[in-house]
Amino acid sequence: MRHFLEADDLSPSEFTRVLGLAELPDPPQVLAGKGVALIFEKPSNRTRNATEMAVVGLGGHPISIRGEEIGLGVRETVEDVTRVLARYHQVVAARVFEHATVEAMAKVDEVPIVNLLSDLAHPCQALGDVLTLRQRWGALPGHTVAWVGDGNNVARSLTLACSLVGVDVRLACPPGHGLDAAVLDGARARGVNVTQVADPAEAVEGADAIYTDVWVSMGQEGEKAEREHDFEGYQVDEVLLGRAAPGAVFLHCLPAHRGQEVSAAVIDGPASAVWDQAENRMHAARGLLLWLLGEGRS
Ligand code: CP
Ligand code: NVA
Repeated sequence: MRHFLEADDLSPSEFTRVLGLAELPDPPQVLAGKGVALIFEKPSNRTRNATEMAVVGLGGHPISIRGEEIGLGVRETVEDVTRVLARYHQVVAARVFEHATVEAMAKVDEVPIVNLLSDLAHPCQALGDVLTLRQRWGALPGHTVAWVGDGNNVARSLTLACSLVGVDVRLACPPGHGLDAAVLDGARARGVNVTQVADPAEAVEGADAIYTDVWVSMGQEGEKAEREHDFEGYQVDEVLLGRAAPGAVFLHCLPAHRGQEVSAAVIDGPASAVWDQAENRMHAARGLLLWLLGEGRS
């Protein structure tokens, strides 16, 4: 039984295999007549639609459930909810406030668990993002991605995912908002260069892609004023983009706030790959489901 709670739950070769499965033109209908449960404790546009349509693409039936509807950990324990869903579904996926919730689901070990975003990680996003970069660049190793902004769930999964495919990462985060040293060291241990600085200009100099995300993630609404203050000067605008390599790609997991973490000219401009990223969430989810269900596993 394999689970996908963070990008590096897959080995480098497994991660690349999933990317290959994501691009299968005629995927086997391994979910014909079968179900996948998707639990959402937080709002979603891309993740819900992309994952539901990935299930449909494999012949299956997705059932999306709001957290409060099943009372995850309130009406029933997380473990009991998981054991019951495992009797109906081939995979259980969940978007949760606390990463410990998906860990508790995985410990039940009766059905593969997929993390659809937690406070700590967003590995399905990272799969789609690396797929997007591979479509743009062909070979991935030797390229550099610059992250500008919050060292959040998306930054963490992206950094780990890049380390699995040989892509260097340069993060620019305000003091107190960076990734933990353990994550940086874990990525470096796979042989890629990973640096974390405070200055966005330093991080993006000559980079092949610039990625940013919201300054206030879901669940952090109470810190909005403080965060907006801390992230002043971290907007990805045309001046910052101009410091990157010629032809550099702009990435954002979305939802985006034009005029805050990114200027309208950048996200709506020629460098932006954000709509391909959004589409690739679906292809990546289909590849991941195929792999979790045993396709292409030795
Ligand atoms: N990028 C992403 O996960 O979007 P949603 O929150 O809309 O699912
Ligand atoms: N960091 C954001 C990503 C949303 C897809 C959040 O957690 O809200």
